[in-house]
Amino acid sequence: MRTAPKTLPLELHAVSLKAGDKWVIKDLSCRFEAAAGCSVIIGPNGAGKSLLLKLCHGLISPEKGRVSWAGGADPGLRGQHQAMVLQRPVLLRRSVRANVTFALKVKGVEKAERRRRADQALARAGLSRYAQRPARLLSFGEQQRLALARAWAVRPEMLLLDEPSANLDPAATHLVEEIIQDTAAAGTKVIMTTHDLHQARRLAGEILFMHRGRLKEQAPAARFFEAPENDLAQAFLRGELLWWRRRSIYAPDEQRKDA
Ligand SMILES: Nc1ncnc2c1ncn2[C@@H]1O[C@H](COP(=O)(O)OP(=O)(O)O)[C@@H](O)[C@H]1O
Ligand SMILES: [Mg+2]
Repeated sequence: MRTAPKTLPLELHAVSLKAGDKWVIKDLSCRFEAAAGCSVIIGPNGAGKSLLLKLCHGLISPEKGRVSWAGGADPGLRGQHQAMVLQRPVLLRRSVRANVTFALKVKGVEKAERRRRADQALARAGLSRYAQRPARLLSFGEQQRLALARAWAVRPEMLLLDEPSANLDPAATHLVEEIIQDTAAAGTKVIMTTHDLHQARRLAGEILFMHRGRLKEQAPAARFFEAPENDLAQAFLRGELLWWRRRSIYAPDEQRKDA
């Protein structure tokens, strides 16, 4: 089993973030814990899901409030224990296998073990036959799977995934979801975004629902899907939270706050 967690609980304390002159994350507080299972962030386009993930990974810092990992704010320590897969993964100009072995080398994994773990991860992601191929020649979906395999091979304490199956076909999506489930079952805390409500239902232990930079609801997945408390979350689940009519379902105070 693992030693004391270095990243959990991950907490955001009244965090606000600006992009240009616009507040894109507004007074957001939340807490991520291992016991909650896979945390899935949902919400309409532009809600701030990707930005929340980047805050969780320390890639960006908030203008107001603070983020803490296991009670502290040590970026060095955090980098060793967290991995993030971006929506457009960044791969090295090396072979598929070398992309994985290099990540393991950086983590200080010994050589024979690097090769073993890399081959295991590539097999898991259905990429064994491409091991020698330059990573940049893979299709987009294969690149996404490679990025996930690479993160999985490193066995991070926390894995952050931004839309991990965006643009994948159903078979590839299924494979990606299996890897995510394996990862979580092996004790890694997964925090991810998705625009796919079916995927959220399949994977989530808890849901965070965001809307226009605010966290509107954080709840166990079963409870959220059964009976969401927030009226915007209810509308979103009904498929009604469409940008061209969002004003019509706003409560008057909501309009004032978000104006
Ligand atoms: N670098 C940036 N500069 C200006 N605006 C940004 C930047 N990054 C994100 N935004 C804006 O912040 C909001 C939230 O973005 P994002 O977190 O990417 O949303 P999503 O929920 O779709 O992942 C959007 O309105 C987006 O346009
Ligand atoms: Mg996004």
